[in-house]
Amino acid sequence: MLKQKIASKKKSLWRTCLPYVVGIFSLIGTTAAAQSSSDMAEEEYEAALKLEPNLNNGRTLYGQCAVCHDPEGWGRRSGIYPQIAGQLPNVIIKQLADIRAGNRGNPMMYPFASGKILKTAQDITDVAAYVSQLPMTWDNGKGSHSRAKRGKPIYEQYCIDCHGKQGEGDNKEHIPMIQGQHYEYLIRQFEWIRIGRRQNADDEMIEQIQSFHSGEMYDVLSYVSHLPPPENKLAPDDWINPDFQKYSRDSEDQFRSSTQKLSIREQKKGLQKD
Ligand code: HEC
Ligand code: HEC
Repeated sequence: MLKQKIASKKKSLWRTCLPYVVGIFSLIGTTAAAQSSSDMAEEEYEAALKLEPNLNNGRTLYGQCAVCHDPEGWGRRSGIYPQIAGQLPNVIIKQLADIRAGNRGNPMMYPFASGKILKTAQDITDVAAYVSQLPMTWDNGKGSHSRAKRGKPIYEQYCIDCHGKQGEGDNKEHIPMIQGQHYEYLIRQFEWIRIGRRQNADDEMIEQIQSFHSGEMYDVLSYVSHLPPPENKLAPDDWINPDFQKYSRDSEDQFRSSTQKLSIREQKKGLQKD
């Protein structure tokens, strides 16, 4: 009788513990999987960095990316696509390696970052080199001037050490250039980094922004969105990528505006006025 009780107790103990045991094992499993996707990405990143870029191959490959990113790589103000033109090459390599290894969720782009399109590390190096030399537009979506003013001291306190004075980033440390980026894109990424939805986020950055309330986030990102790219990275007025002249452009959908004709000096004056 006693034995039976003990046995049934053992059984019920096992029953109570089983979900936890399974939980622990699956946790170990997922950590191991997460570990391996970031390891895989890192390996590919390191391999791609060692290769000499071939711009011709990069141009050919970019034809597939242009479906979403347009031949100019300027993205959309809605933030659905980022401005990728002029991004630092190591940052592009890191993002491509992360996306294809599953270390940054991007279901829309995943098939294009996969081995079907980018067959080798060399392809990653080549397309990254091509994108990084594309001239940028300064006509990105921007936050309000008043928020940008409030965001300046926040940027200087919390972001400048890593992203640089003008948001120029750091190629060697693969810290993204964020100047000229669309406001709505900045908000999405910032929020995803803060809540842990972007797996490849920088731990120190997460720590740094944990206590931000949303007002501070809008302020600092408005400021970032007003940081203009350097003049030597900007496209001339009305520039169309000559490598894709025959590309059929949907003029309604195309991100491009008449304000593109304003000079950078006029745009800077606008910011000072506010
Ligand atoms: C089907 C549409 C699509 C295609 C094709 C595509 N992308 Fe993307 N790409 C996106 C979207 C959407 C994002 C933003 C995802 C997000 O919000 O996290 C993105 C993000 C990126 C980023 C990250 C930028 C950043 O600053 O975080 C890079 C780099 C990039 N794409 C490069 C490429 C390259 C190179 C190709 C071609 C090999 C390509 N993409 C093909 C849709 C696409
Ligand atoms: C400790 C260094 C560090 C600090 C501080 C930091 N960041 Fe970052 N940030 C990074 C790195 C590294 C990445 C890219 C991580 C990756 O994808 O590999 C990043 C990514 C981003 C992105 C996404 C960019 C893109 O193209 O997808 C945004 C936006 C951003 N940071 C904004 C900020 C802002 C605003 C602040 C200040 C409030 C800040 N960061 C503070 C290092 C930092």
